[in-house]
Amino acid sequence: MANGGDLMEKLVSLCKRRGFIFQSSEVYGGTGSVWDYGPLGVELKRNIKDAWWRSMVHERDDIEGLDAAILMHPRVWEASGHVAGFTDPLVECRNCHRRFRADNPDIRWTDQCPVCGTKEAFGEPRMFNLMFKTFMGAVESEAAVVYLRPETAQGIFVNFQNVLMSTRQRVPFGIAQIGKAFRNEITPGNFIFRTREFEQMEMQFFVEPGEDDEWFEYWKAKRLEWVHSLGIRPGKLRFQEHSPDELAHYAKKAYDIEYEFPFGWHEFEGIHNRTDFDLRRHQEFSGKKLEYVDPVNRDKRYIPYVVETSAGADRTTLVVLADAYREEELEGETRVVLGLDPRLAPLKVAVFPLVKKDGLPELAERIHHGFRKAAIPAFYDDSGSIGKRYRRQDEAGTPFAITVDGQTLEDQTVTIRHRDTLQQERVAVDRVVDFVRERIA
Ligand code: GAP
Repeated sequence: MANGGDLMEKLVSLCKRRGFIFQSSEVYGGTGSVWDYGPLGVELKRNIKDAWWRSMVHERDDIEGLDAAILMHPRVWEASGHVAGFTDPLVECRNCHRRFRADNPDIRWTDQCPVCGTKEAFGEPRMFNLMFKTFMGAVESEAAVVYLRPETAQGIFVNFQNVLMSTRQRVPFGIAQIGKAFRNEITPGNFIFRTREFEQMEMQFFVEPGEDDEWFEYWKAKRLEWVHSLGIRPGKLRFQEHSPDELAHYAKKAYDIEYEFPFGWHEFEGIHNRTDFDLRRHQEFSGKKLEYVDPVNRDKRYIPYVVETSAGADRTTLVVLADAYREEELEGETRVVLGLDPRLAPLKVAVFPLVKKDGLPELAERIHHGFRKAAIPAFYDDSGSIGKRYRRQDEAGTPFAITVDGQTLEDQTVTIRHRDTLQQERVAVDRVVDFVRERIA
């Protein structure tokens, strides 16, 4: 098995080769740490987001969905603390002018530029705000500055009263959202792990003050349960509590769910107790009351506390890819497999005619079409040896491969090969759609 760096290289290369992920604007030499999802990648990420939405919104009575805009009133980011506090300390090399995070231990302890090698390269750090700025309207003045949101959460806070008024929800309840966020990271990297444009899957759960600790524990357990449900190996997962100096400006308590990536243990989801910080600040800055009035006892009014679960859709995709990647020796060759959970796999089934004659391609095409009609993503392939066709699908993570052969003409059955066990079984042609459907639900 490959070591960490090797493994990442192999994963990046597989993602490009099979159409999962491409570098953005590659024909122009690429854009720094921005990635595009190709035909298989878009399906994989969508399946992850759909699994999240199902478990957080559709399967629950107490969470509503939302899709707030990326551009928000600039005062939102003053109230949230992002204008003043969403900063990283930055130093610049006096020779090559590359910039680095000053809290990177290599920079802090050596004072040597890792790019050009200049010694005593850095002066005093200065604070660098991570929010992208742009202008709204025709005039590019300070007054027209708006930000690309650095987290989706604020769209939820400013809509708290709207959701409350337009639904039958009562505290405790939550609002969930999936959407893009942008951060002008100083040192992005590790493929889709840290990028400047990414997607978050966030849920803010509004609770009565005093009940927040209990709900925090509830959501911590629930979120780990969900990650397990994606088939991620439990031994590769752990919780990591934020120390007081790591806590975000809004947080009373925070735990990360970390995965052991090829480049080490890192967070891909956080569970945060944000207290009433955000609603209180928006109430203060907007002048609008954002408190909750208990419908039974109307004298009971409070600003709810918020337990937040915040996952990166891209980082979760990287977790799923890294966890699924494996190499096996098979008949003297290396077989590369993405052992994706069938629910997440972009293609559910591939259909091959064993040979390109005797009416087998036509029959295989018909079976393939049957899957498409049933809205089950399927792939038809008649090029190259059957072994090569299997390998391509193993790399794409396709859980089932169907081969139409001579026997099919005699008894109307096909071979179904299972990606992980390599077991083959014969199934009647008119049963194959149900066979696959039952295994991807
Ligand atoms: N609303 C809270 C919040 O945004 P965060 O820990 O800053 O908390 C939550 O971000 C999640 O968003 C992270 O766990 C990660 O999965 C994802 N994320 C944050 N910055 C990212 C980046 N630059 N690239 C990719 N994903 C990122």
